Amino acid sequence: MIVAPDTTALRRHIRELEDGSRRIAFVPTMGNLHAGHLALVTQAQACADAVVVSIFVNPMQFAAHEDLDKYPRTLDADLAALESIGVDVVFTPTVTDVYPEGVEAHTAIHVPVLGDVLCGRERPGHFDGVCTVVYKLLEMVKPDVAVFGEKDLQQLLIIKKMVNDLNLDIDVHSGPTQRAADGLALSSRNQYLTADERAIAPKLWETLQTCAGQLRSAAGLEGGSILDVARASLAQAGFAVDYLELRVLSTLAESESLSEDCALFVAARLGQTRLIDNIQIAAA
Ligand code: PAJ
Repeated sequence: MIVAPDTTALRRHIRELEDGSRRIAFVPTMGNLHAGHLALVTQAQACADAVVVSIFVNPMQFAAHEDLDKYPRTLDADLAALESIGVDVVFTPTVTDVYPEGVEAHTAIHVPVLGDVLCGRERPGHFDGVCTVVYKLLEMVKPDVAVFGEKDLQQLLIIKKMVNDLNLDIDVHSGPTQRAADGLALSSRNQYLTADERAIAPKLWETLQTCAGQLRSAAGLEGGSILDVARASLAQAGFAVDYLELRVLSTLAESESLSEDCALFVAARLGQTRLIDNIQIAAA
């Protein structure tokens, strides 16, 4: 496995892969890898000859008050995990390499509408930071395929739109959310949870499943009250709910019924930790 610590080294190794006409799949990450990330890598390996993984905690997608400094960084363990599953190239750039003139001075990419709701509303500028870094990484790696997780469904939809709008010749694939045995979606932020919070956390996925079942069997207009009950039950369990909303997958417009393919999106805080999850629901 080759570790490319900067853009120059990365381009050199990518050119070697391109010269060998190897189909390249790319998995961008912020490191602190868990089974969710590794499942995306395995999926990437199944559809390409060589897999490139990036590890970069992107300052542009964190607001000043967020957890950039305490975001878990575990490079040695990450590299060992990637080596053990046969990744070809790992790109580990520095902030200066990616943003030589600083984040504030950098061009930003904004995906309208999809990027303005849910986490875009709660975390202004977050998706501009995600899109900008993903665009840059895609330009550096120039993969045939890039793989993203459905855990971050809004991020996935936004990146698909950006790739389409900017005519990038890249197939975007997605992988299903990997969960702990009790249903909690794996996330680098789960380790911030105290033991008590960790015991409550699976309630998030439980609530999404219950709510999805009720929406499937509801006749139209009950949707709003089903969501209200679900929000109240999360609050009762100890969550501070940022949002729990049913939205149409194609536009992220709010919906109260399943007339189109939808997803329930939730973001809720337990103490200092913000958790997100979602469940997709096919049109009735
Ligand atoms: P990060 O949170 O490290 O996630 C990297 C990729 O792993 C994303 O595509 C994410 O959706 C996926 N992922 C995370 N948890 C998962 C789980 N439990 N099951 C399946 N996939 C999961 O998302 C980011 O980094 C950043 O925003 C990034 C795209 C790298 C841009 O900085």
